[in-house]
Amino acid sequence: MKLVEMLGFLILLFLASVEPDVCPIEINPPSMVVRYGDPVTVNCTVSTNHLGMGWVAPQNTVDQQTGVRSLLWTVEHLTTWDVAPLCFANLVGKPQCSKEVSVTVYSKCVSLCLLPLIVLKVLQF
Ligand SMILES: *[C@@H]1O[C@H](CO)[C@@H](O)[C@H](O)[C@H]1NC(C)=O
Repeated sequence: MKLVEMLGFLILLFLASVEPDVCPIEINPPSMVVRYGDPVTVNCTVSTNHLGMGWVAPQNTVDQQTGVRSLLWTVEHLTTWDVAPLCFANLVGKPQCSKEVSVTVYSKCVSLCLLPLIVLKVLQF
């Protein structure tokens, strides 16, 4: 009897600890690689009712909006290197949940493309 009780308690404890942290946010695309200066669009969708959703980003933050299921984060010219835009949603009776988009920004030519020009200039003199 005692053992059964203890087992039941342990199972309850286990269930409580593995209860999934449900954040009903879906981001499309979930990650991306963008060239510096290029446009970016990410779609955030919340699958449950919420009190407001928005985007927090170093460029083009989207203020919290209510009554929408999906919200776009759009940048015409991405000129920030470390971008991790965050889509958040304030849920009813639950803590705010959010998901981050992984954006890798690259530049085709910064130093490598200038090098031949510099060499040419040096050779001209
Ligand atoms: C964003 O995604 C949702 C769910 O897939 C879709 O219904 C909605 O049309 C999308 N919005 C845009 C602007 O693509």
